[in-house]
Amino acid sequence: MPRRLFGSFVEHLGRCVYTGIYEPGHPTADGDGFRRDVLALVRELGVTTVRYPGGNFVSSYRWEDGIGPVDQRPARLDLAWHSLETNAFGLDEFMRWVGKADVDPIMAVNLGTRGTAEAVDLLEYANHRGGSHLADQRRDNGADRPYRIRLWCLGNEMDGPWQVGARSATEYGRLAAQTAKAMRRFDPDLELVACGSSHLGMPTFGSWERDVLTEAYDDVDLISLHAYYQPVDDDLPSFLASAEEMDRYIDSVTAIADSVGAIRRSTKKIMIAFDEWNVWYQSAAPSTPPSGADWPVAPPLLEDHYSVADAVVVGGLLISLLRHSDRVTAACQAQLVNVIAPIMTEPGGSAWRQTIFHPFARTARHARGAVLDVLRDGSTTTTDRFGEIDAVDAVSTWDDSTGEMTVFLVNRVTATPSEVTVDVSGARVNGIVECVTVGGTDLDARNTPDGPDHAAPRPNDTAHQAGTGVRLTLPPASWTMLRLD
Ligand code: AHR
Repeated sequence: MPRRLFGSFVEHLGRCVYTGIYEPGHPTADGDGFRRDVLALVRELGVTTVRYPGGNFVSSYRWEDGIGPVDQRPARLDLAWHSLETNAFGLDEFMRWVGKADVDPIMAVNLGTRGTAEAVDLLEYANHRGGSHLADQRRDNGADRPYRIRLWCLGNEMDGPWQVGARSATEYGRLAAQTAKAMRRFDPDLELVACGSSHLGMPTFGSWERDVLTEAYDDVDLISLHAYYQPVDDDLPSFLASAEEMDRYIDSVTAIADSVGAIRRSTKKIMIAFDEWNVWYQSAAPSTPPSGADWPVAPPLLEDHYSVADAVVVGGLLISLLRHSDRVTAACQAQLVNVIAPIMTEPGGSAWRQTIFHPFARTARHARGAVLDVLRDGSTTTTDRFGEIDAVDAVSTWDDSTGEMTVFLVNRVTATPSEVTVDVSGARVNGIVECVTVGGTDLDARNTPDGPDHAAPRPNDTAHQAGTGVRLTLPPASWTMLRLD
């Protein structure tokens, strides 16, 4: 299973960078101005890759503004989030932070206001060893060795009317193909992501993917999917089943990509980068950027405070991603700190875990090895949005090197517990290592800087061996992880 499924996203948006991962003067700041309390939580979260610098931000970003002596960097208007970008944090700071966080970078290039030339310049600055103007500039800026960034996003949400420089599918597909070709002249082994639709509800969904891939199929490796989920009309059962929509979205894009490949008689398969996903209360006020003459630096934006129910949904979305890990080879929860994020900070103060931190951290730590196809056979539940669905969703992983099997389950029934038998006949299983649950009660509870930590996984003592399997009880509206060895 690709470890890149447990990626995250740092955008120059709100307080994700400034007073999020970077806050010189903070009591925990290291010599680079990186918050050590945040770094510790990022490591605990188990994030493997981080996409940067946007998001919508990238579509009017000049990467050169963020390099060189900090006091000579220009302040610029960020047109995406109507904020003032100081450029105190840029590519070199990000790459130093990536090293300290022990994650791999995913870099996005601006194909909104810029094009192939600037993308190739950025690539030369980042990845060329030296001896050319831009690579030597990087070395002068303190990074002697090339960054060797392997995964690159060719723009962001280029179908969205809100995107600076949005284009038609054919226009974008040609630009993506041309940029990819140029980047591959430098390094044919780069992995390149073309923009898919901004979300499943876009009016151009489907035709966008088809037309972009018709232009760029041979030049890119992955296509992006973005999706954010929130309860609609307080419909908790449908919200808990958000993974149904994620399943259908992935299956649809896979089918479209394969149909383009089939028409081209290509043996190549386009993979999926689900490089923005999460719960996001998009209709809430903190999602609205400033306006008019107000261009604040790092304003609090998109600072959703997550409930226990949101944590159960995030656990379910991770199940969907794991289930599709034959095609989804990269994914990024959006975002990492403060902005629709598992980690929150107070400027000058503490850093703390949101409810959604826990299912991510447990899944990232224990989903290892091969993903197993789980045959679900049992009761169903009916939701307004998705009709009749399995009451319990599940996926399992098997780590041959440790002999550990881990099963992740979500009970989508809101009123009653679900009794489950995990039949492991045929597998070498000795006993139960751990069984923990999130949810079931206090679904509306939210964490605060002072605690308590409402969604901290608690032991599920119902799990016991029975015959060729393990029986356990899943509380209503809950996420559970069962580890066997
Ligand atoms: O993650 C927040 C925003 O959502 C990103 O900037 C954009 O790509 C998406 O619409």
